[in-house]
Amino acid sequence: MTNSFRTLDDVDVKGKRVLVRVDLNVPMDGGKVTDATRLERIAPTITEISDKGGKVILLAHFGRPKGRDDKNSLKPVAAALADVIKKPVAFADDSVGDVAAEAVGAMKDGDILCLENTRFHSAEEKNDPAFVAELAKLGDIWVNDAFSAAHRAHASTEGLGHKLPAYAGRTMQAELDALGKALDAPTKPVIAIVGGAKVSSKIDLLENLVTKVDALVIGGGMANTFLHAQGVKVGKSLCEKDLAATALRIIDKAEASGCAIILPVDAIVAFHFAANTPSHAYGLDAIPDEGMILDVGPQSIERINSAIDDAATLVWNGPVGAFEMTPFDRGTVAGAKHAAARTKAKKLISVAGGGDTVAALNHAGVADDFSYISTAGGAFLEWMEGKPLPGVEVLKK
Ligand code: 3PG
Ligand code: MG
Repeated sequence: MTNSFRTLDDVDVKGKRVLVRVDLNVPMDGGKVTDATRLERIAPTITEISDKGGKVILLAHFGRPKGRDDKNSLKPVAAALADVIKKPVAFADDSVGDVAAEAVGAMKDGDILCLENTRFHSAEEKNDPAFVAELAKLGDIWVNDAFSAAHRAHASTEGLGHKLPAYAGRTMQAELDALGKALDAPTKPVIAIVGGAKVSSKIDLLENLVTKVDALVIGGGMANTFLHAQGVKVGKSLCEKDLAATALRIIDKAEASGCAIILPVDAIVAFHFAANTPSHAYGLDAIPDEGMILDVGPQSIERINSAIDDAATLVWNGPVGAFEMTPFDRGTVAGAKHAAARTKAKKLISVAGGGDTVAALNHAGVADDFSYISTAGGAFLEWMEGKPLPGVEVLKK
Protein backbone atom coordinates (compact mmCIF):
# COMPACT_ATOMS: atom_id res chain seq x y z
CA MET A 1 0.00 0.00 0.00
CA THR A 2 2.81 2.38 0.92
CA ASN A 3 4.22 1.98 -2.59
CA SER A 4 1.43 4.12 -3.96
CA PHE A 5 2.68 7.09 -1.95
CA ARG A 6 5.77 9.23 -2.21
CA THR A 7 7.76 8.96 0.99
CA LEU A 8 10.90 10.58 2.39
CA ASP A 9 12.85 8.02 0.34
CA ASP A 10 11.78 9.87 -2.80
CA VAL A 11 13.12 13.34 -2.00
CA ASP A 12 16.39 15.04 -1.10
CA VAL A 13 15.40 17.39 1.71
CA LYS A 14 18.81 19.00 2.18
CA GLY A 15 18.48 22.78 2.22
CA LYS A 16 14.75 22.57 1.54
CA ARG A 17 12.03 24.24 3.58
CA VAL A 18 9.87 21.27 4.53
CA LEU A 19 6.35 22.00 5.75
CA VAL A 20 5.51 19.03 7.96
CA ARG A 21 1.87 18.57 9.02
CA VAL A 22 1.90 16.81 12.37
CA ASP A 23 -0.75 16.08 14.99
CA LEU A 24 0.12 18.06 18.13
CA ASN A 25 -3.42 17.73 19.47
CA VAL A 26 -2.21 16.08 22.68
CA PRO A 27 -4.03 15.88 26.01
CA MET A 28 -2.99 18.71 28.33
CA ASP A 29 -3.70 19.54 31.93
CA GLY A 30 -2.61 22.79 33.58
CA GLY A 31 -0.28 23.67 30.70
CA LYS A 32 1.45 20.25 30.78
CA VAL A 33 1.22 17.46 28.23
CA THR A 34 -0.28 14.43 30.01
CA ASP A 35 0.27 11.88 27.22
CA ALA A 36 3.20 12.40 24.85
CA THR A 37 2.46 9.39 22.61
CA ARG A 38 1.64 11.52 19.58
CA LEU A 39 4.86 13.51 20.07
CA GLU A 40 6.89 10.31 20.26
CA ARG A 41 5.23 9.06 17.07
CA ILE A 42 6.26 12.08 14.97
CA ALA A 43 9.81 12.19 16.31
CA PRO A 44 11.32 9.92 13.60
CA THR A 45 10.08 12.10 10.73
CA ILE A 46 11.25 15.34 12.32
CA THR A 47 14.63 13.93 13.30
CA GLU A 48 15.24 12.39 9.89
CA ILE A 49 14.49 15.58 7.96
CA SER A 50 16.55 17.66 10.38
CA ASP A 51 19.49 15.23 10.31
CA LYS A 52 19.43 15.27 6.50
CA GLY A 53 19.73 19.07 6.54
CA GLY A 54 16.14 20.00 5.79
CA LYS A 55 14.45 22.93 7.53
CA VAL A 56 11.56 21.42 9.48
CA ILE A 57 8.55 23.74 9.67
CA LEU A 58 5.81 22.16 11.75
CA LEU A 59 2.16 22.87 11.02
CA ALA A 60 -0.53 21.66 13.40
CA HIS A 61 -3.83 22.46 15.07
CA PHE A 62 -4.73 22.36 18.73
CA GLY A 63 -8.28 22.04 20.03
CA ARG A 64 -11.15 23.64 18.20
CA PRO A 65 -10.62 27.39 18.74
CA LYS A 66 -12.83 30.04 17.20
CA GLY A 67 -10.13 32.55 16.38
CA ARG A 68 -6.98 33.24 18.40
CA ASP A 69 -7.11 32.20 22.04
CA ASP A 70 -4.24 31.65 24.45
CA LYS A 71 -5.43 28.40 25.90
CA ASN A 72 -5.17 26.77 22.48
CA SER A 73 -1.64 28.00 21.77
CA LEU A 74 0.83 25.39 20.56
CA LYS A 75 3.68 27.07 22.44
CA PRO A 76 3.72 24.67 25.44
CA VAL A 77 3.33 21.70 23.10
CA ALA A 78 6.33 22.83 21.05
CA ALA A 79 8.35 22.95 24.29
CA ALA A 80 7.22 19.41 25.19
CA LEU A 81 8.15 18.25 21.69
CA ALA A 82 11.66 19.63 22.12
CA ASP A 83 12.01 17.44 25.24
CA VAL A 84 10.85 14.37 23.34
CA ILE A 85 13.08 14.83 20.27
CA LYS A 86 15.98 16.25 22.30
CA LYS A 87 16.54 19.08 19.84
CA PRO A 88 15.59 22.76 20.06
CA VAL A 89 12.21 23.65 18.58
CA ALA A 90 11.75 27.35 17.80
CA PHE A 91 8.26 28.84 17.87
CA ALA A 92 6.52 31.51 15.78
CA ASP A 93 3.36 33.24 17.00
CA ASP A 94 1.51 32.84 13.72
CA SER A 95 1.24 30.21 10.98
CA VAL A 96 1.20 32.76 8.13
CA GLY A 97 2.14 36.38 7.41
CA ASP A 98 5.26 38.35 8.35
CA VAL A 99 5.77 36.65 11.71
CA ALA A 100 5.91 33.21 10.11
CA ALA A 101 7.92 34.39 7.08
CA GLU A 102 10.58 36.03 9.27
CA ALA A 103 10.92 32.96 11.47
CA VAL A 104 11.27 30.69 8.43
CA GLY A 105 13.72 33.15 6.82
CA ALA A 106 15.97 32.94 9.88
CA MET A 107 16.21 29.12 9.79
CA LYS A 108 19.42 27.28 9.07
CA ASP A 109 19.60 23.80 7.56
CA GLY A 110 18.51 21.23 10.15
CA ASP A 111 16.58 23.75 12.27
CA ILE A 112 13.13 22.95 13.59
CA LEU A 113 10.39 25.57 13.85
CA CYS A 114 6.83 25.12 15.10
CA LEU A 115 4.23 27.56 13.81
CA GLU A 116 1.26 28.61 15.93
CA ASN A 117 -2.09 26.77 15.78
CA THR A 118 -3.31 26.82 12.16
CA ARG A 119 -6.92 26.90 13.42
CA PHE A 120 -6.42 30.42 14.78
CA HIS A 121 -7.35 31.27 11.18
CA SER A 122 -10.85 30.16 10.22
CA ALA A 123 -9.54 29.82 6.65
CA GLU A 124 -7.68 26.67 7.76
CA GLU A 125 -10.83 24.60 8.30
CA LYS A 126 -12.42 26.09 5.18
CA ASN A 127 -9.41 24.91 3.14
CA ASP A 128 -9.45 28.43 1.69
CA PRO A 129 -7.19 28.58 -1.40
CA ALA A 130 -5.81 32.01 -0.40
CA PHE A 131 -4.77 30.61 3.00
CA VAL A 132 -3.30 27.49 1.36
CA ALA A 133 -1.25 29.81 -0.87
CA GLU A 134 -0.06 31.77 2.20
CA LEU A 135 1.10 28.56 3.88
CA ALA A 136 2.67 27.27 0.67
CA LYS A 137 4.87 30.37 0.42
CA LEU A 138 6.69 29.15 3.54
CA GLY A 139 7.84 25.83 2.11
CA ASP A 140 9.32 24.00 -0.86
CA ILE A 141 7.66 20.65 -0.17
CA TRP A 142 4.87 19.31 2.07
CA VAL A 143 5.12 16.21 4.23
CA ASN A 144 1.97 14.85 5.87
CA ASP A 145 2.68 12.90 9.06
CA ALA A 146 -0.72 13.40 10.66
CA PHE A 147 -2.85 10.34 9.89
CA SER A 148 -4.99 11.21 12.90
CA ALA A 149 -6.03 14.49 11.26
CA ALA A 150 -6.32 13.01 7.75
CA HIS A 151 -10.12 12.83 7.92
CA ARG A 152 -10.13 16.64 7.80
CA ALA A 153 -9.89 18.35 4.39
CA HIS A 154 -8.26 21.46 5.84
CA ALA A 155 -5.64 23.77 4.34
CA SER A 156 -2.72 22.23 6.22
CA THR A 157 -3.98 18.60 6.07
CA GLU A 158 -5.11 18.49 2.44
CA GLY A 159 -4.96 21.80 0.57
CA LEU A 160 -1.17 22.01 0.63
CA GLY A 161 -0.93 18.63 -1.08
CA HIS A 162 -2.32 20.19 -4.25
CA LYS A 163 0.01 23.15 -4.11
CA LEU A 164 3.41 21.64 -3.20
CA PRO A 165 5.14 18.31 -3.92
CA ALA A 166 3.57 15.99 -1.31
CA TYR A 167 5.13 13.15 0.67
CA ALA A 168 4.02 10.81 3.45
CA GLY A 169 6.03 11.16 6.65
CA ARG A 170 7.41 8.05 8.37
CA THR A 171 4.52 7.78 10.83
CA MET A 172 1.94 8.20 8.11
CA GLN A 173 3.80 5.57 6.10
CA ALA A 174 3.85 3.12 9.03
CA GLU A 175 0.20 3.76 9.78
CA LEU A 176 -0.93 3.21 6.19
CA ASP A 177 1.19 0.10 5.99
CA ALA A 178 -0.24 -1.35 9.22
CA LEU A 179 -3.82 -0.45 8.39
CA GLY A 180 -3.46 -1.79 4.86
CA LYS A 181 -2.35 -5.14 6.28
CA ALA A 182 -5.34 -5.17 8.61
CA LEU A 183 -8.25 -4.54 6.27
CA ASP A 184 -7.25 -3.81 2.68
CA ALA A 185 -5.04 -6.83 2.05
CA PRO A 186 -5.13 -8.84 5.27
CA THR A 187 -4.00 -12.34 6.07
CA LYS A 188 -7.28 -14.20 6.54
CA PRO A 189 -9.27 -15.03 8.56
CA VAL A 190 -9.88 -11.54 9.93
CA ILE A 191 -11.70 -10.83 13.16
CA ALA A 192 -12.87 -7.42 14.32
CA ILE A 193 -13.76 -6.55 17.90
CA VAL A 194 -15.97 -3.50 18.18
CA GLY A 195 -17.12 -2.14 21.50
CA GLY A 196 -18.12 1.16 23.00
CA ALA A 197 -21.35 2.59 24.27
CA LYS A 198 -23.47 3.24 21.24
CA VAL A 199 -24.50 1.60 17.99
CA SER A 200 -25.61 5.02 16.73
CA SER A 201 -22.04 6.30 16.45
CA LYS A 202 -20.81 3.14 14.71
CA ILE A 203 -23.49 2.14 12.20
CA ASP A 204 -21.36 2.92 9.13
CA LEU A 205 -18.40 1.18 10.71
CA LEU A 206 -20.34 -2.02 11.45
CA GLU A 207 -21.93 -2.02 8.00
CA ASN A 208 -18.53 -1.78 6.35
CA LEU A 209 -16.84 -4.31 8.62
CA VAL A 210 -19.38 -7.09 8.08
CA THR A 211 -18.53 -7.03 4.37
CA LYS A 212 -14.79 -7.26 5.05
CA VAL A 213 -14.14 -9.48 8.06
CA ASP A 214 -14.83 -13.13 8.75
CA ALA A 215 -15.98 -12.62 12.33
CA LEU A 216 -17.22 -9.57 14.20
CA VAL A 217 -17.31 -9.49 18.00
CA ILE A 218 -19.71 -6.88 19.31
CA GLY A 219 -19.27 -5.85 22.92
CA GLY A 220 -19.81 -2.90 25.23
CA GLY A 221 -23.07 -1.00 25.56
CA MET A 222 -23.71 -1.42 21.87
CA ALA A 223 -24.03 -5.20 22.28
CA ASN A 224 -27.12 -4.60 24.44
CA THR A 225 -28.91 -3.04 21.49
CA PHE A 226 -28.21 -6.15 19.42
CA LEU A 227 -29.30 -8.45 22.25
CA HIS A 228 -32.49 -6.43 22.74
CA ALA A 229 -33.17 -6.64 18.98
CA GLN A 230 -32.97 -10.42 19.32
CA GLY A 231 -35.50 -10.46 22.14
CA VAL A 232 -33.16 -10.57 25.15
CA LYS A 233 -34.44 -8.59 28.15
CA VAL A 234 -31.59 -6.26 29.07
CA GLY A 235 -33.14 -4.63 32.16
CA LYS A 236 -31.82 -1.14 32.85
CA SER A 237 -28.76 -1.60 30.63
CA LEU A 238 -27.67 1.08 28.21
CA CYS A 239 -29.60 0.21 25.06
CA GLU A 240 -30.72 2.15 21.98
CA LYS A 241 -34.11 0.50 21.53
CA ASP A 242 -34.93 2.67 18.51
CA LEU A 243 -32.00 1.06 16.69
CA ALA A 244 -33.28 -2.50 16.96
CA ALA A 245 -34.16 -2.56 13.25
CA THR A 246 -30.71 -1.24 12.37
CA ALA A 247 -29.10 -3.97 14.47
CA LEU A 248 -31.14 -6.65 12.71
CA ARG A 249 -30.23 -5.20 9.32
CA ILE A 250 -26.53 -5.39 10.24
CA ILE A 251 -26.98 -9.01 11.36
CA ASP A 252 -28.67 -9.83 8.03
CA LYS A 253 -25.95 -8.11 6.07
CA ALA A 254 -23.32 -10.05 8.01
CA GLU A 255 -25.05 -13.32 7.22
CA ALA A 256 -25.25 -12.44 3.53
CA SER A 257 -21.52 -11.59 3.55
CA GLY A 258 -20.44 -14.72 5.41
CA CYS A 259 -19.38 -12.79 8.51
CA ALA A 260 -20.06 -14.48 11.85
CA ILE A 261 -21.47 -12.06 14.45
CA ILE A 262 -20.28 -12.92 17.93
CA LEU A 263 -22.46 -11.41 20.66
CA PRO A 264 -22.10 -11.92 24.41
CA VAL A 265 -23.57 -15.19 25.71
CA ASP A 266 -23.53 -14.06 29.34
CA ALA A 267 -23.09 -10.78 31.18
CA ILE A 268 -21.76 -9.16 34.32
CA VAL A 269 -24.66 -7.32 35.87
CA ALA A 270 -24.70 -4.70 38.63
CA PHE A 271 -27.40 -2.50 40.09
CA HIS A 272 -25.41 0.74 40.20
CA PHE A 273 -23.16 2.35 37.64
CA ALA A 274 -20.15 2.62 39.94
CA ALA A 275 -16.74 1.05 40.41
CA ASN A 276 -16.66 -2.00 42.70
CA THR A 277 -20.40 -2.07 43.17
CA PRO A 278 -21.55 -5.68 43.79
CA SER A 279 -21.99 -7.62 40.54
CA HIS A 280 -22.62 -11.14 39.29
CA ALA A 281 -22.52 -13.12 36.07
CA TYR A 282 -25.93 -13.88 34.57
CA GLY A 283 -27.14 -15.90 31.63
CA LEU A 284 -28.90 -13.86 28.96
CA ASP A 285 -32.26 -15.41 29.88
CA ALA A 286 -31.97 -14.15 33.46
CA ILE A 287 -30.90 -10.49 33.39
CA PRO A 288 -32.77 -8.87 36.33
CA ASP A 289 -35.24 -6.10 35.45
CA GLU A 290 -33.35 -3.62 37.64
CA GLY A 291 -29.89 -4.81 36.52
CA MET A 292 -27.36 -3.17 34.24
CA ILE A 293 -24.98 -5.10 31.98
CA LEU A 294 -21.53 -3.59 32.59
CA ASP A 295 -19.24 -6.22 31.07
CA VAL A 296 -19.22 -9.47 29.15
CA GLY A 297 -19.35 -12.59 31.33
CA PRO A 298 -16.80 -15.44 31.67
CA GLN A 299 -18.36 -17.63 28.97
CA SER A 300 -18.32 -14.70 26.57
CA ILE A 301 -14.65 -14.13 27.32
CA GLU A 302 -13.91 -17.75 26.42
CA ARG A 303 -15.95 -17.40 23.24
CA ILE A 304 -14.08 -14.21 22.25
CA ASN A 305 -10.69 -15.72 23.01
CA SER A 306 -11.38 -18.82 20.97
CA ALA A 307 -12.55 -16.61 18.09
CA ILE A 308 -9.24 -14.74 18.37
CA ASP A 309 -7.46 -18.12 18.19
CA ASP A 310 -9.21 -18.82 14.88
CA ALA A 311 -8.06 -15.52 13.35
CA ALA A 312 -4.85 -14.47 11.65
CA THR A 313 -5.63 -10.75 11.78
CA LEU A 314 -7.45 -8.70 14.40
CA VAL A 315 -8.78 -5.15 14.20
CA TRP A 316 -9.96 -3.74 17.53
CA ASN A 317 -11.96 -0.63 18.26
CA GLY A 318 -13.70 0.05 21.54
CA PRO A 319 -13.77 -1.66 24.95
CA VAL A 320 -16.21 -4.56 25.49
CA GLY A 321 -17.25 -3.40 28.96
CA ALA A 322 -17.21 -0.33 31.22
CA PHE A 323 -13.42 -0.77 31.45
CA GLU A 324 -12.78 2.50 33.30
CA MET A 325 -14.46 1.03 36.40
CA THR A 326 -13.14 -2.09 38.12
CA PRO A 327 -14.12 -4.91 37.99
CA PHE A 328 -15.93 -4.14 34.72
CA ASP A 329 -12.60 -3.94 32.91
CA ARG A 330 -12.22 -7.75 33.08
CA GLY A 331 -13.61 -8.67 29.66
CA THR A 332 -11.61 -6.01 27.86
CA VAL A 333 -8.41 -6.84 29.74
CA ALA A 334 -8.83 -10.59 29.16
CA GLY A 335 -9.38 -10.16 25.42
CA ALA A 336 -6.54 -7.67 25.12
CA LYS A 337 -4.10 -9.95 26.97
CA HIS A 338 -5.12 -12.92 24.86
CA ALA A 339 -4.67 -10.97 21.62
CA ALA A 340 -1.31 -9.69 22.85
CA ALA A 341 -0.13 -13.23 23.67
CA ARG A 342 -1.20 -14.52 20.23
CA THR A 343 0.61 -11.59 18.64
CA LYS A 344 3.79 -12.29 20.60
CA ALA A 345 3.55 -15.93 19.53
CA LYS A 346 3.45 -14.67 15.92
CA LYS A 347 0.03 -16.21 15.37
CA LEU A 348 -1.81 -12.92 14.98
CA ILE A 349 -1.45 -9.50 13.39
CA SER A 350 -3.24 -7.12 15.74
CA VAL A 351 -4.18 -3.54 15.00
CA ALA A 352 -6.12 -1.29 17.33
CA GLY A 353 -7.15 2.33 17.40
CA GLY A 354 -9.73 4.95 18.22
CA GLY A 355 -10.31 7.07 21.32
CA ASP A 356 -10.94 4.79 24.31
CA THR A 357 -9.26 1.80 22.74
CA VAL A 358 -5.69 2.96 23.32
CA ALA A 359 -6.56 3.85 26.93
CA ALA A 360 -8.09 0.38 27.39
CA LEU A 361 -5.03 -1.39 25.96
CA ASN A 362 -2.70 0.72 28.07
CA HIS A 363 -4.82 -0.18 31.09
CA ALA A 364 -4.46 -3.86 30.17
CA GLY A 365 -0.69 -3.31 29.96
CA VAL A 366 -0.44 -4.75 26.46
CA ALA A 367 -0.17 -1.70 24.22
CA ASP A 368 3.43 -2.55 23.30
CA ASP A 369 2.54 -6.12 22.34
CA PHE A 370 0.03 -5.31 19.62
CA SER A 371 1.38 -5.22 16.06
CA TYR A 372 0.21 -1.64 15.65
CA ILE A 373 -1.74 0.83 17.73
CA SER A 374 -3.04 3.91 16.03
CA THR A 375 -3.26 7.14 18.02
CA ALA A 376 -6.04 8.30 15.71
CA GLY A 377 -9.58 8.75 16.97
CA GLY A 378 -11.98 10.03 14.32
CA ALA A 379 -9.62 9.21 11.44
CA PHE A 380 -9.35 5.57 12.59
CA LEU A 381 -13.13 5.29 12.73
CA GLU A 382 -13.54 6.78 9.26
CA TRP A 383 -10.91 4.38 7.98
CA MET A 384 -12.84 1.48 9.55
CA GLU A 385 -15.96 2.86 7.89
CA GLY A 386 -14.18 2.46 4.55
CA LYS A 387 -14.28 6.18 3.81
CA PRO A 388 -11.48 7.83 1.83
CA LEU A 389 -9.45 10.16 4.06
CA PRO A 390 -8.72 13.47 2.29
CA GLY A 391 -5.26 13.82 3.87
CA VAL A 392 -4.34 10.35 2.58
CA GLU A 393 -6.00 10.61 -0.84
CA VAL A 394 -3.97 13.72 -1.66
CA LEU A 395 -0.75 11.76 -1.08
CA LYS A 396 -1.55 9.15 -3.71
CA LYS A 397 0.74 9.28 -6.70
C1 3PG B 1 -7.73 14.33 17.01
O1 3PG B 1 -7.27 14.71 18.08
O2 3PG B 1 -8.57 13.41 16.91
C2 3PG B 1 -7.23 14.94 15.75
O3 3PG B 1 -6.17 15.80 16.02
C3 3PG B 1 -8.33 15.65 15.00
O4 3PG B 1 -8.86 16.68 15.79
P1 3PG B 1 -10.30 17.28 15.42
O5 3PG B 1 -11.29 16.19 15.71
O6 3PG B 1 -10.50 18.48 16.26
O7 3PG B 1 -10.29 17.60 13.94
MG1 MG C 1 -11.23 14.06 17.20
